[in-house]
Amino acid sequence: MRVGILTGGGDCPGLNAVIRAAVRAVEVEHGGEVVGFHDSWRGVLEDRWEALDIERCRGILPRGGTILGTSRDQPYQEADGAQRVAEAVERHRLDAIVAIGGEGSMGVVKDLHRDGIPVIGVPKTIDNDIAETEMTFGFQTAVQICADAIDRLHTTAESHDRVLVVEVMGRHVGHIAVWAGIAGGATLTLVPEDPFDVEDVCRRLLARHRRGRWASIVVVAEGAVPVEGTMELPKLEVNRWGHEVLGGIGDVLAGEINARTGIESRTTVLGHVQRGGTPVAFDRVLGTRFGVAAVDAVADRAYGKMVALQNDRIVRVAVEDAVGHLKVVSPELLRTRAVFHAPDPTAQPPG
Ligand code: F6P
Repeated sequence: MRVGILTGGGDCPGLNAVIRAAVRAVEVEHGGEVVGFHDSWRGVLEDRWEALDIERCRGILPRGGTILGTSRDQPYQEADGAQRVAEAVERHRLDAIVAIGGEGSMGVVKDLHRDGIPVIGVPKTIDNDIAETEMTFGFQTAVQICADAIDRLHTTAESHDRVLVVEVMGRHVGHIAVWAGIAGGATLTLVPEDPFDVEDVCRRLLARHRRGRWASIVVVAEGAVPVEGTMELPKLEVNRWGHEVLGGIGDVLAGEINARTGIESRTTVLGHVQRGGTPVAFDRVLGTRFGVAAVDAVADRAYGKMVALQNDRIVRVAVEDAVGHLKVVSPELLRTRAVFHAPDPTAQPPG
């Protein structure tokens, strides 16, 4: 067996666990070899790669990032891109390429499969928004980093009786924000799934702070959206892959809270800290399970499949079922978050 492997899109703790597990499974279970392409599909197109074996993978399990490097480049950006991927498969005599990536990368896996190229998808993202899998590795690590930060912010917020706004990642969905908000005991958690009214946010904070020195933590996902017409957000830059560069909502929100309530408010943007460093044990295990399962899929010639976690079992799903829509936060989790929100002083008592 000969397998190509690459990591695409934003990095994520646990990528090296997948690489290590796939290499191990190919070598030990199939006596095969692994070609590791550098910088995602860019390495496939430009034939930049290295041979991966058990020796090369020693010590990488707890390491964040990816030993292969990553990029957001993909074959369909170039007219002959798919053709060049097919040539790389030929040249390296690969049974398949295992592509570890997010929603965008899974879309590429879908298209390459349609074009007859043997590919298997492994879902990754700290955002945990890929459909058809209950969890992606990297997410639990990101949540732990946020919860640890919020614990620290509580004590300084209390000393100064401030509102501290914590901006976390979450481009289209609020999984990180909701988990971090619940785990960190946030006063309010604002997510893309549930547009917020800044006036309502301020009313709740003001009522809470009027009752004494009760500092507040407001967790806001970078992709959270204000109710239309309630709060202006600055226009976002678009990067060379056509993605909006998010970030900044925390500052705008803290400014509004300051101006509307008079309570001193500051912002902490956790940013790429959430994506760096060593993966927590759960992410190492999930990445390892995905890596082994991806090699099993290559052995079974189950091309066009994505490995996934469902009911605590690793399964294969058709990659086209996983793209085109995102996994949003469940209504149950949104409600659990809201139970802990500072109460709205104007709300009527139940009954
Ligand atoms: O897709 C994961 C993610 O972490 C998003 O939450 C975030 O908007 C994006 O990546 C930022 O990635 P980069 O800074 O690498 O472009």
